[in-house]
Amino acid sequence: MTSRWAVAYREGMLLPALRHPVVGAPMAGGVSTPALVAAVGEAGGLGQLAAGYLDVPTVAEQVAAVRSTTTAPFVVNVFVAETLDEATEGPAVAEFARRLAPVAERLGAEVPHPRWDDTDHYAEKVDLLADLAVPVVSFTFGCPSAADVDRLHAVGTVVVVTVTTPGEAAAAAAVEADALCVQGHEAGGHRGVWDRRAEPSPLTHLDLLPLVRAVSDLPLVAAGAIASADDTRAALAAGAVAVQVGTALLLADEAGTRPAHRRALAESGRRSTTTRSFSGRVGRGLTNTWTRELGDAPATFPVVDQLTKPLRAAAGRADDAEHVNLWAGTAWRDARPGPAGDVVRRLSPVRVDLS
Ligand SMILES: Cc1cc2nc3c(=O)[nH]c(=O)nc-3n(C[C@H](O)[C@H](O)[C@H](O)COP(=O)(O)O)c2cc1C
Repeated sequence: MTSRWAVAYREGMLLPALRHPVVGAPMAGGVSTPALVAAVGEAGGLGQLAAGYLDVPTVAEQVAAVRSTTTAPFVVNVFVAETLDEATEGPAVAEFARRLAPVAERLGAEVPHPRWDDTDHYAEKVDLLADLAVPVVSFTFGCPSAADVDRLHAVGTVVVVTVTTPGEAAAAAAVEADALCVQGHEAGGHRGVWDRRAEPSPLTHLDLLPLVRAVSDLPLVAAGAIASADDTRAALAAGAVAVQVGTALLLADEAGTRPAHRRALAESGRRSTTTRSFSGRVGRGLTNTWTRELGDAPATFPVVDQLTKPLRAAAGRADDAEHVNLWAGTAWRDARPGPAGDVVRRLSPVRVDLS
C-alpha cells in the first residue's frame, strides 16, 4: 500500500490518492498526537506526526502507535538542523538570557545554560525513518541533502520539503523532493524559512503558489489560514493538489493542545502576531504578556528555544496562557472543537455520499 501510494504521489497524483485533499499539519510541542494523525488519515486526509523536539525513541513509539491504529498513510515531519557558532551568536544570546531572568523568577523557573551542539537528533531521526520506511517524510527549516532524499526514496518513502520562497522551491526540486509544502505568511506556528536570520516573505500561499509553480512542476501543498472548503477550493484553483491545515485542528478532540491554548483560541481580545521571542525563529501566534514584554529575540534557533523552554513549561503547569506560545494562524477565530474527521470533511471540497 505504501509504495503504491508513493508512486501515485511521485507521479503528481496526490489528489486522486487521497479521499480528501487535506493534510494535517505537523504540530510539534505535543499537539500532533498519534490519535490526531490516525483520525485525519481514517477520515481520508493525510495525518502528520511532528518529530521536532522529540527524542528518537519517542518518534519510534509514535510511529508504532499510528501504525497500530490505522493502515492509512501518514507523514513524519523533521526539523532540518544547522550548526551554530557560539563565538558570534553567544553575546546576543547572553543578553536575551538576562532579559528572561526576571520572567523566569516570576514563573518559579530557571534560565538554563545553552547547548550549542543541539541538532534535534536530525541524523538519527533520518536513520530511524529510513529504517521504519514510513510512507512520507516532510522537512522544515531547511533542505535535506540529496543523499538523505536518496536514502528515503530507496525504502519507498515520499519526501516533502516546506518552502516559503521560489528560491527554496528550486533548491528543494534540485535534491529530488517529491512535493513541496508552500507555506504563506498567514500560517500558524513557525515559519519554515530556511535562513533563520532572514525576515520571512510577507506573501500568502495564494501569492506564492504561482511563483513556485514558475520554478517547479512538483505537486504543491498549500499552507496558511485554510478555514473552509472555499479556502481549499481557492488553493486548488491556484495550483495546489492539497492544503495543509494546523490551526483548524488545534481544537480537535484528538489534538494534544493544552487547555490554556484551547481557551485562548476562544478569547476575542487577542490578536495575531509574529514573534521570535519564543524560539529565535519567526512564528505566528496570539498575543499575550510574553509577546508584549519580550518583543524580539536573537535569531539563534534552537538555542533561544532551549532558554525559554523551562519558563514555558512552568507556565504550562500553572495553566497560564500569558507565558506560553499560543501558535495559531490568522484564521484562528474559525477553529472549532469536535472530532478531527469532521474538520477534514468540513475543509474538503469533496462531498462523500454515504447513502
Ligand atoms: C501549533 C502549531 C505547531 C506547528 N508545528 C510545526 C512543526 O512542528 N513542523 C512544521 O513543519 N510546521 C509546523 N507548524 C506549521 C504548519 O505546518 C502549517 O504551516 C500551518 O499550521 C498552516 O497554517 P494554519 O495554522 O493557519 O493552518 C505548526 C503550526 C501550529 C499552529
